[in-house]
Amino acid sequence: MQAQRGLGAVLPLPRAVALAAGRPEAACYRCPTMSEPAKREFAPDEHVVVEDLQKTFGEFRALKDINMTIRRGQIVVIIGGSGAGKTTLLRMLIGLERPTSGHIYIDGEDIAPLNERGLNRVRKKCGMVFQYAALLDSLNVMDNVAFPLREHTKLKEKEIRERVIDKLSILGMEKIENRFPSQLSGGMRKRVGLARALMLEPEFLVYDEPTSGLDPLTSRMVDDLIHETRDRFGVTSVVISHDMASALKISDYVFLLNKGEIVGEGTPKALVDGKSQLANDFLESSGIDAKALLAKTPHNPSG
Ligand SMILES: Nc1ncnc2c1ncn2[C@@H]1O[C@H](COP(=O)(O)OP(=O)(O)OP(=O)(O)O)[C@@H](O)[C@H]1O
Ligand SMILES: [Mg+2]
Repeated sequence: MQAQRGLGAVLPLPRAVALAAGRPEAACYRCPTMSEPAKREFAPDEHVVVEDLQKTFGEFRALKDINMTIRRGQIVVIIGGSGAGKTTLLRMLIGLERPTSGHIYIDGEDIAPLNERGLNRVRKKCGMVFQYAALLDSLNVMDNVAFPLREHTKLKEKEIRERVIDKLSILGMEKIENRFPSQLSGGMRKRVGLARALMLEPEFLVYDEPTSGLDPLTSRMVDDLIHETRDRFGVTSVVISHDMASALKISDYVFLLNKGEIVGEGTPKALVDGKSQLANDFLESSGIDAKALLAKTPHNPSG
């Protein structure tokens, strides 16, 4: 998707100075007399923008020329087969892993060159729901969910406990705070993982395969939960999935990732109606009737 540029964006300083001085000719972004490099402009709704991102592990190119725009409040699904690079991309989006080259702008700030301290500041604005919930087995639900508050805030214990119980209750889980992860069902573990990811009230939330390993009914509940979480907390969400049916149902926008490259993108409707051979291959290999599925998806806004 081509990023919209210039809508209400903040002017880079040299350009603003040149304009204020009545020298519009000096306000061009790539003026050779400027010592400052040209700066990227962002529209207010461009929450996360990825440009020319590459990731290599030794000789292996895990991600190639990734470009993405994720708009504020959107639910974006990245879909691709095993080993396509989905988790690697997700971890880079929230500063858990560094790109080999390229840019990741969050709220207009490029996080790629940040040092560890800068990355920690960015990570506090982001939440991640891990592929296998990743709860700490030796801690009960209270201590698992309270973990980010104890790590990153100076809140008193009473306040922490109240916030944990409140978040668990919003997600439909009452009186489970003394249970250990081994005493929870798969769906409950996912919800506890989501509660933990929400504790620092992130603006940007990423989910790694939130429905993997769940039965169809529980998967649908998790899909609904992703929607409710966006609606209730206004978070921008990126969801990784193997599952085309779920992707089409929950997303505002989809990226297709294959062997480290984005091979297709669009709204669910555009992908289903489109002529892209690669997108059609993806849809066909998923074995679902995508058109019928979209027709009966009430909350899909992409029509
Ligand atoms: N730290 C690492 N060192 C070396 N190779 C890695 C590392 N992390 C990931 N890879 C490789 O990068 C590729 C992409 O891995 P990634 O975990 O991102 O895939 P994925 O799309 O999330 O797969 P899955 O659906 O199985 O979770 C794989 O070939 C993997 O072996
Ligand atoms: Mg993965």
